[in-house]
Amino acid sequence: MTQDFLTTPAKILITGVDGQIGYFLNQAAQADPFFSVVAFTDAKLDISHRAQVQKQLDEHQPDYVINTTGFNAVDRAEASAERCFALNRDAVENLALACGDLSIPLIHLSSDYVFDGHYASGYTEDDQAHPLGLYGESKWQGEELLRTALPQHVILRVSWVFSTIGDNFMRRALLQARQEEEISAADDRRGCPTSANDIARVIIAILKQLHNGAENWGTYHYCCAEVTTRYGFTEAVLAAAGQYEKLKVDKLIPISSSDMGSDAERPASSVLVCSKLLNHFGIRQRPWRSQLVAMIREQYQNEEISHISA
Ligand SMILES: NC(=O)c1ccc[n+]([C@@H]2O[C@H](COP(=O)([O-])OP(=O)(O)OC[C@H]3O[C@@H](n4cnc5c(N)ncnc54)[C@H](OP(=O)(O)O)[C@@H]3O)[C@@H](O)[C@H]2O)c1
Repeated sequence: MTQDFLTTPAKILITGVDGQIGYFLNQAAQADPFFSVVAFTDAKLDISHRAQVQKQLDEHQPDYVINTTGFNAVDRAEASAERCFALNRDAVENLALACGDLSIPLIHLSSDYVFDGHYASGYTEDDQAHPLGLYGESKWQGEELLRTALPQHVILRVSWVFSTIGDNFMRRALLQARQEEEISAADDRRGCPTSANDIARVIIAILKQLHNGAENWGTYHYCCAEVTTRYGFTEAVLAAAGQYEKLKVDKLIPISSSDMGSDAERPASSVLVCSKLLNHFGIRQRPWRSQLVAMIREQYQNEEISHISA
């Protein structure tokens, strides 16, 4: 019997829904009648645990698995290589093998940090990966194991993710701007900030097309439009937040990333070219500036709600 795609929702299983992308993807999918959603926090499903993964896949039999987990602390990865590779490489293979056993396609997130950043005009999916640090290396090795284990995959590389959830550059800039008169940001590293909400939109669009028969498996890039620096992004955060409160900061200082004393080397330019996603799925980039304004508004709304309920 053929499945009636018009009336039967696509069943998706999302891992890591406490994280930035997982949270927004879960919200968007739950609100969309196209999907029936099974959502797991890391406390409910540890993806490095093969038996746990197998049990949940057997029980729920999803049409697709979307893995939004990751060890993303780029500096900490240098001293915590074992944990980083366990999640970004070994657990991804684990998930891919378990999905393969049941012929379930896997949508997986990867990173601009698989590139070395020497190529200023932007990286395509065909460009050679050459990670600079252990975080990027672990993401690259995870990608490679997934490609080998499960042909029915989409690897979506994204960059500079910001949102109202967890530890990210937008929230760190806002926190600093509230506490300090002078703050600094690197003006020599180029990339494209990308909102977790917008990545959720992209994953939803990909899933809908896959479920309607598109067989566009493979690796894709997505980031929001407009290349900037951490300095440029911080300026925009301050402008957007300044609409809601008088921030303590009165000076933003551009610095070199070499003055930041980071443990991990980061790519100088990690702009992702997103034309393959447009050509294969018809998905266009959205500008990060409008996404940022919306995220800052949501940040202040969330704070007001927690203030009222406190
Ligand atoms: N953040 C970025 O700027 C960025 C840039 C490029 C690519 N990416 C990729 O995008 C994906 C999502 O990033 P994100 O920023 O949304 O991540 P995030 O906010 O750090 O969330 C990751 C989630 O994974 C969970 N997790 C950790 N270990 C787990 C395990 N063994 N089993 C199940 N879940 C586990 C974490 O739980 P705990 O919080 O409890 O540890 C957390 O909820 C990752 O693959 C990342 O590499 C992110």
